[in-house]
Amino acid sequence: MKICKTIKETKETVAKWRSEGLSVGLVPTMGYLHEGHLSLIQNAVKNNDRVAVSIFVNPMQFGPDEDFDSYPRDLDRDAALCEKNGVDLIFAPEISEMYPEGFCSYVDMTGLTGGLCGKSRPIHFRGVQTVVNKLFNIFTPDRAYFGEKDAQQLAVIKRMVLDLNMNVSIVGCPIIREADGLAKSSRNSYLSPEERAAAPIINKGMSLGKKMIEDGERNAEKIIKAISDVILSVGITKIDYVSIVDSLTLEPVETIEKDVLCACAVYMGSSARLIDNFSVTV
Ligand code: PAF
Repeated sequence: MKICKTIKETKETVAKWRSEGLSVGLVPTMGYLHEGHLSLIQNAVKNNDRVAVSIFVNPMQFGPDEDFDSYPRDLDRDAALCEKNGVDLIFAPEISEMYPEGFCSYVDMTGLTGGLCGKSRPIHFRGVQTVVNKLFNIFTPDRAYFGEKDAQQLAVIKRMVLDLNMNVSIVGCPIIREADGLAKSSRNSYLSPEERAAAPIINKGMSLGKKMIEDGERNAEKIIKAISDVILSVGITKIDYVSIVDSLTLEPVETIEKDVLCACAVYMGSSARLIDNFSVTV
């Protein structure tokens, strides 16, 4: 397995693969890999001749008061996991490699990003789209893999690829959970023992909401209230949002008539903002 720090070396390696007629799968990550990332990697290994993982904590997608500095990083551990899981190349650039002096081009969107996480993280998706666009240009992958846990991110990237006619198939992979239901996330490492013990309440609330819809409830407000009541019942949580939106437009719905995404973001104590979601086909 190769670890590339520069765009030039990465492009040369990919060009060699291409000249041999090999297909390329890309798994973009910010590192500190967990089973969620590994499921993306395993999926990519199964369906492509060569698999690359990018590991880059992208400063452009963090707001000024967010956790860019404290975001967990461990390249040695990540490299061992990638090697073990059949990855061919890790791209782990410095910030100056991705954003050299004078950098001033961005990819942005006028829809899909105003609600859900975009409301409290106004510059986040511009940063995600810009870095993912750069990664797609560097790797020209056949397929790129993203987790369904970041449902809004997945919708934004699919829309960007469609709108800008990009030659890549976007593959969404299911949420991977801890045994107690908590969605796996690099940010779970921020949780104190007390917060970690309370964190499965998020999935408990969401599961109740899912069951209400499956049992026929169609009033979004009622479902959101029931989910919120469960999440707030442990006393150390603060809700950023619980929303039910149209799966395609991500616009809030009052009555569930079409496929919806129900998503939430919850602050656990003082340390972490965790997200979770489920989709329902009606
Ligand atoms: O989902 C992530 O880890 C990041 O948002 C991504 C897609 C790697 C872009 O930095």
